[in-house]
Amino acid sequence: MTAIVEFDPIGAASIKGALGTDAAVLPGLDALRAHLELNVFEDCVVLGPSVDQQDVFALAEDMRLRRPSLGVVMVRRRIDTAVLTDALRSGVREVVQERDLAGLTTAVRRQHEIATRLREQVENPEGAELKSRGGRVVTVFSAKGGCGKTTLATNLAAALADSKRGSVALLDLDLAFGDVAIALQLFPSHTIADAVPIGEDLDGPALLSLLTSHRSGLQALVAPMEPSAADTIDTPLVVHIIDLLREEFDYVVIDTPPALDDNVLAAFDRSDVVALLATLDIPALKNLKLTLETLDLIGFSRDRLKIVLNRSDSKVGLALAEVEKTLKAPIVAQIPSSRDVPASTNRGVAIVSDEPRNPVSIAIGAFIDEYVIASGDDAIPAQMRTDRRTTRRWRR
Ligand SMILES: Nc1ncnc2c1ncn2[C@@H]1O[C@H](COP(=O)(O)OP(=O)(O)OP(=O)(O)O)[C@@H](O)[C@H]1O
Ligand SMILES: [Mg+2]
Repeated sequence: MTAIVEFDPIGAASIKGALGTDAAVLPGLDALRAHLELNVFEDCVVLGPSVDQQDVFALAEDMRLRRPSLGVVMVRRRIDTAVLTDALRSGVREVVQERDLAGLTTAVRRQHEIATRLREQVENPEGAELKSRGGRVVTVFSAKGGCGKTTLATNLAAALADSKRGSVALLDLDLAFGDVAIALQLFPSHTIADAVPIGEDLDGPALLSLLTSHRSGLQALVAPMEPSAADTIDTPLVVHIIDLLREEFDYVVIDTPPALDDNVLAAFDRSDVVALLATLDIPALKNLKLTLETLDLIGFSRDRLKIVLNRSDSKVGLALAEVEKTLKAPIVAQIPSSRDVPASTNRGVAIVSDEPRNPVSIAIGAFIDEYVIASGDDAIPAQMRTDRRTTRRWRR
């Protein structure tokens, strides 16, 4: 159920109308608190525009500690950055504009999903015993742009989600020019930039509320809409986000920018598998060689590096064996070229979901079977892992 507090009867009726019969309007905040005491499974409260902002923040702050599964959704007539920042910092999960009733419905549905996920984690008795080791992290990288990183990352995530092997998060670390949202035709209400004002208070539930669901079931944390916002996201925050995603999900797939920056190195550090992507052209191969040499220099284990050749069937006169000799590393997977890839990207669908028999989809599936689902190391479902959220806090 969802509890609503809004003093204006017309506003209250409109909110209730959007949320349906499973929502009840309460006369005020005292009544709301009493309702919450009685209804321990209440997952979501919606506080309308007439409820004092400071009262909303105080309630959210209080509930964040006492009842982390409860999602507080705030409806405002006008939303500016200051309100949003203060709201997220206090523990309000979503701020929705008064007339955005579709956005309100989505926000409330998300709170119920988050509450269900959190309850599963807490209630699962095995969870208390199993030592948390986190979900598997796969990072896709190439130092040259346009090699197919976003294509591979979105398809890996969609294929994992389709396979129902576990929960899947997709993180777009191409902070300035990320296009995961476009590639999957997502309409995000939040981006990674919204994690900045929450700062050290960012915990599992807050992070979950920043994700956007894709129809495959994967949950994406998309890049900021404004390229300039990329500078506000520093590496300690990126590390914290990856750690939280590992706690919450069985698989975390990370898309990257075409540059070996600190964020990318931090992602590598936390990855079980790093798919290094190249195409059969000299600039891409030169950049891949430089990447390998840099990673060797900093002592990064080659075991986790998996070289993947995209558009491997291009007839460009470069022999695979020669390439491997130059790189001093094996190419473990080859993804053929297909016109269906840009066609599906343009339609905002993952080719693995749309055309599972396409040779591109088969190659991606084989990579997953071979390297992502390591033998004898099947991911422990996230809900069976110990909830570390209460014991770890991130500090800048
Ligand atoms: N196997 C393939 N066959 C045909 N086209 C492909 C293939 N892989 C990728 N492409 C196309 O190549 C283009 C670049 O791919 P993508 O955006 O995934 O690269 P990227 O490495 O993420 O680029 P950027 O560095 O700009 O982020 C896209 O139009 C994509 O559809
Ligand atoms: Mg990309």
